[in-house]
Amino acid sequence: MHNEIKEVLISEEEIQAKAEELGAQITRDFDGKFPLAIGVLKGAMPFMNDLLKRVETHVEIDFMDVSSYGGGMESSGEVRIVKDLDTQVNGRDLLIIEDIIDSGLTLSYLVDLFKYRQANSITIVTLLDKPSGRKANVFADIVGFEVPDAFVVGYGLDFQERYRNLPYIGVLKEEIYS
Ligand code: XMP
Ligand code: MG
Repeated sequence: MHNEIKEVLISEEEIQAKAEELGAQITRDFDGKFPLAIGVLKGAMPFMNDLLKRVETHVEIDFMDVSSYGGGMESSGEVRIVKDLDTQVNGRDLLIIEDIIDSGLTLSYLVDLFKYRQANSITIVTLLDKPSGRKANVFADIVGFEVPDAFVVGYGLDFQERYRNLPYIGVLKEEIYS
């Protein structure tokens, strides 16, 4: 599997150090608040795990699975809820955990939904931010790393459901997707 990766963009060590740093920040920001951490499936799973291990205050955990119509490598903007939260968000302080913000269309949909459901506050944390892809006017409050305009895989991110289990973020060799 590793020989299908052209380049490692962010190493396992860099990711773990970042999770520790951001976990400490979240501990400070949410001390005494009992936020609801919402992992956006499936991509946020490894980051959510490594991040929340470092949070030293109480958090509740829930998951949301959304998919955008179209598939392929670009988001269409039309979002469908595959799995909704089990938890009521009204009055809660939310911590949305994402793998990557690219077009921002998925996140924009979620933010609107949680505002409609009357969350008390919404904080967005994303491991990766790809500002060059942005179509919706949404920004993360807490960003791990900025990535260039390339399709990246690993550590939750997939190409055709593969590579999510890589411990690092990498760029695929062209021959794999062309
Ligand atoms: P946006 O912000 O475009 O992102 O709504 C929606 C979802 O698309 C996926 N995504 C990627 N997945 N490499 C991937 O493996 C990428 O470069 C990439 N860009 C977007 C990701 O699941 C994101 O949550
Ligand atoms: Mg995702």
